[in-house]
Order: sequence, then structure tokens, then C-alpha cells
Amino acid sequence: MNILILGSGGREHAFAEKIKSSKLCNNLFVAPGNSGTEKTAKNLNIDYNDFPAIKNAVLQNRINMVVVGPEDPLVNGIHDYFLGDSELKHVIVIGPQSMAAQLEGSKNFAKEFLNRHSIPTAIHKTFNKNQIDEANNFLESLPPPYVLKADGLAAGKGVLIINDLKEAKNELYKMLCEQKFGEASNQVVVEQFLKGIELSCFVITDGDSYKILPTAKDYKRIGEGDKGLNTGGMGAISPPPFVDKIFMEKVETKIIKPTIEGLKKDQIPYQGFIFIGLIKVKNEPFVIEYNVRMGDPETEVVFPRIQNDILEVFMSLHNKTLLDQHLLIDNKTAVTIVLVSGGYPENYEKGHEIIGLGKIDSSIIFHAGAITKNRKVVTSGGRVLAVTSLSKNYKDALSISYKNISKIYFKNMYYRKDIGFDL
Ligand code: AMP
Ligand code: GLY
Repeated sequence: MNILILGSGGREHAFAEKIKSSKLCNNLFVAPGNSGTEKTAKNLNIDYNDFPAIKNAVLQNRINMVVVGPEDPLVNGIHDYFLGDSELKHVIVIGPQSMAAQLEGSKNFAKEFLNRHSIPTAIHKTFNKNQIDEANNFLESLPPPYVLKADGLAAGKGVLIINDLKEAKNELYKMLCEQKFGEASNQVVVEQFLKGIELSCFVITDGDSYKILPTAKDYKRIGEGDKGLNTGGMGAISPPPFVDKIFMEKVETKIIKPTIEGLKKDQIPYQGFIFIGLIKVKNEPFVIEYNVRMGDPETEVVFPRIQNDILEVFMSLHNKTLLDQHLLIDNKTAVTIVLVSGGYPENYEKGHEIIGLGKIDSSIIFHAGAITKNRKVVTSGGRVLAVTSLSKNYKDALSISYKNISKIYFKNMYYRKDIGFDL
């Protein structure tokens, strides 16, 4: 088969390595890809939201399957676009249609879905700009801190957690009446703050049955001790040691099964990954959010643990035979540490040469914001590399990654030295 992966991050590099190792893989392409995917696949210089350009590439390269990495092409309807085009409708798309992608594209849609199917989540209300008074009253009825969420996609920045009531009211006004997050904050979800430990739960579904992939914990804040601004993710561990069998049984019964059943009841087709952001509050799971894709950097710890031929699994999504698949998971712990450009998640420089990549021993380097320029690997984004290691426990795996990181250098390189500090 000829495969096209859409995206350019560490997640897509991890996809590329796994897909390349499949006996079903013939030619592999990534659009637009990075300096890592370039070694494993052929990069195509195409924007993943440019559907006509993707169509040309699919026809020209006789692509049989498109694997979608990030959420925006899904929310923008790439799967629907393929189904609606007579020249593309035979191409398999891994990733849901836009109706299901609303689970990520609209926080209010996700909340209504959760409530309709009695899936545990924080209590909430949704408001528009004509409901400022009601919104303020609702804020007053909640204990601090206050959680405000822009309804639409806001590049991971649309959630505010604020301790002070007056400040929360101010920010709510800016979101609703001054378009703080553009159209994404035309509606705002106000919800109860849940105190607990977060984890990322991954499910793959063909719309009928599902399989649970390894769980992971993501470290989202830029600073050590989980301080400072939110990022895309600074490191991850799979499995997190606090996830035991009894807890996962609760997750499956109270969250995963009702989610899959809910999609069926609502007649929402789904073929792809569901990433359920959970919070464990006194041993009970609550849904924080749905994403309709894999996580990044979680993929860089989840995918190396999957031992199946991944294209066989993807084909079973298309054939609706996922139930017959048996997932083989490596019981080692995987960790990844993300190396970022100094200044990220705010302004940072690009174009610095990355050196030391040839000296890595026993870790896997997934490239993210890195490209090849004049035969050199240079930084091109905030999150630059993810350094993954597997070992019998997370502490050993972390020490392998940190040892290898000491051999890598680029100007203004920064990473968290405390991944796993809270476990
Ligand atoms: P989201 O984009 O919905 O995942 O929110 C971003 C981050 O905000 C989450 O990863 C949590 O750390 C935090 N968060 C969101 N909702 C809540 C909540 N109800 N209670 C506590 N923390 C939350
Ligand atoms: N690491 C979180 C995400 O991919 O959204």
C-alpha cells in the first residue's frame, strides 16, 4: 500500500516509523513532514489544510490510505472531502469525519455529548455574549478556581484557569465580547474545577468495536514543578504508574464504553483514534476533553510500545474487523523528553543547527520542529525533538533519555529536567 501521513510533528515522525515497519507498506509520504520523516519517507511540501493540493498528491502518488495527524484537517472535514469526491472515495482515511471531529472542535458539543450519555465530567454551563449576566451569576455559584473554555479550536490556548472571581469575570467578558480567541470564544464553557491527576487515554475504533491503547501522562507546563505557561507537551510517560487495573476497569466501564455506544446512538460514524483527556479525582475518572487524534508527545511513548503491524490494525478499522485484532503491547515503560527552542511557548528563534544526533545510543529521536537545510538539521519550531527511551521502569528510561540529551546541542535549547517528578 502507498500511505500519506498528514502533519509535521514528533507524532507524525512516530507514525512514520511504525508504518514504515509494516509489511503492508510500499511507498510512504508525509505532508509536510520534517527532517526525521525525510529519512523514513518522502516529504511532500503541502499544507495539510490545502485539500485540493492533497487530492493532487494522492492521485499522483497512487495513495491508498491517508493517516491524519493533527485535528484541524479533521475538524475542517478532510474525511468528508474524500468521501464526497468520486476520485478519492476509495482512499482509506484514518481519522473521523467532521461530525465526530466536533468532539474536539467544539467544547460545548463535547459537553452535550458527555451529558447526554451520562459520562462523568465537570459540571458546566455554556454562554454567549448576550448571557453575560447569567454567566457571572454562574461563576459566583462556583468555588474558585474558575475554568473558562473557548468553545472552538484556539491552538491549545483557549482554556483559562483563574483563582480570582473578579479577574475571571473580566476574562470572561474579553472572551465573549472582545473576541479574545476570535470566533472560537463566541461561546464560552464555564465549568467546575476538578482537582486530581491527569492522564491521557487512547482508544482506536472502527465505529463498532474499540481497542484501548496504552495510557500516558503528559507534562504540559513549560516550567519545572508544572509551573508557567501551557505548552503542547514537554514530556510523557507510558504507562503512568498510578494507573492500575481497577482504575482502568472504571475508565472502560464509565467512560470508554459509553463513549463508543454514544457515538452509535447518535449515529456519528467514527474511524480512527479517540484521545480522552481524563482527570483522576479520588480514584474516579472524569473526562476533561475529547480529542479526535493521537496526542503529541504521547504518541512518542505510546507507539513505540505497540508491537502489532500497524497497517493491519488500520485496515481492520476500514474493514470493521477491529474486534478480531489482538493488540500486543510491550510491557516496558516508555518516556519521552521534549527539547524546545528557548522562549517557547512564546517567541523563539529558528534556524539553529542541531548537533550530536549521530551519537545517540539506546534512545529514539523523534523530530518535530526540525528541518534539513543545506544538508544540516536545523530548528524550525518550538518543540524541536522528542527523546524517547524504553526500560523496565520510568526512572531507568528517564536516565537513558537524559544521558542522550547531554550529547545534543542547539542554541537556546531548553528541556524540563523533572519529568516524572510527581509520580
Ligand atoms: P483542555 O483544553 O480542555 O484539555 O484544557 C487544558 C487543560 O486545562 C487541561 O489539560 C487541564 O490541565 C486543565 N483543565 C481543563 N478543564 C479543567 C477542569 N474542569 N478542572 C481542572 N483542570 C482543568
Ligand atoms: N499533548 C496533548 C495534546 O496532544 O493535545
